[in-house]
Amino acid sequence: MEDLRAVGWRDGRVMLLDQTLLPHEERYLEIADWRELAEAIRGMKVRGAPAIGIAAAFGLALAAGGDDPLRELDRAYEELSATRPTAVNLFWALRRVREAALAGEAGEAARRALEEAMAIAREQDEADRAIGELGARMLPEGCKVLTHCNAGGLATYSYGTALGVIKTGFRRGKVRFVWVDETRPLLQGSRLTAWELRREGIDMAVICDNMAGHLMSRGEVDVVVTGADRVAANGDTANKIGTYTLAVLAHRHGVPFYVAAPLSSLDLDLPEGSAIPIEERDPREVLEVGGVRVAPPGVEARNFAFDVTPAGLITAVITERGVAGPPYEASLRELVHSGAG
Ligand code: MRU
Repeated sequence: MEDLRAVGWRDGRVMLLDQTLLPHEERYLEIADWRELAEAIRGMKVRGAPAIGIAAAFGLALAAGGDDPLRELDRAYEELSATRPTAVNLFWALRRVREAALAGEAGEAARRALEEAMAIAREQDEADRAIGELGARMLPEGCKVLTHCNAGGLATYSYGTALGVIKTGFRRGKVRFVWVDETRPLLQGSRLTAWELRREGIDMAVICDNMAGHLMSRGEVDVVVTGADRVAANGDTANKIGTYTLAVLAHRHGVPFYVAAPLSSLDLDLPEGSAIPIEERDPREVLEVGGVRVAPPGVEARNFAFDVTPAGLITAVITERGVAGPPYEASLRELVHSGAG
């Protein structure tokens, strides 16, 4: 089976596997203009914290390739930063690429930006594989895992964080079955995670988000693994809306709740989760299913895209450099600093 690529670069264009079309159609968009790329991120043609960061990094490389690289870089930086507020990887990747682009002759800015974007993608792939290995070790033998949203290769680059743990766990014979939360309102679970798990031949079933408590009460879930969009210094973690509810349920039923995330998803400048900006999206995503309105005319909705799971509900945070446990203030910083120098 060919490796999955959510995002890449070919002949001066950004390649994006259009995730709004999956699972029915596998089509790559070829994007040559950073404004179009910003629109693709906003419209969730590419999504998932690390993949958003990598796509935006390539977007800056496009901007740096224009006639007026420095001006375009500034504009692209501003606009790409304003696409989705919660995933910290976006801001981290944009800063990295801008710094690289500006660190020398303007005429070489595009080459340096592209090299940096490529490095970010490569590092993400290595991080995913390491997270998969470390996370798989934490799983009980023959377990049934529950996951939420899509934290797979589609959300990173190729392999995935939470799904990386599940894929490696499956290859090691430790994962017996996966419960896939459908993940309202945009159904990243039933559309994307189910598609990725099927490619791997992993046994699974899609469930509505509100079925998790029932399954846990029957002993049908051994462990929960999710991704993260941003982890604050105290371990509080923002992830797809509904993750907090799952963590409360897992706590109630004594089920371990793991967050799998690369170090680029840590935001140690934020002391706690209440400071994480939470994206609110178009209410139509809630009022409609598959583009068909289901609520009566005139009814309003709110559409919070993420929630924050308090650190106290998280058993451990699995990163590429090691597994952090509570108290997270110390363990997360230690992981970050253990790689310095
Ligand atoms: O709104 P999305 O689809 O971008 O949300 C994605 C998630 O919540 C993922 O769990 C998270 O970004 C981690 S991806 C490795």
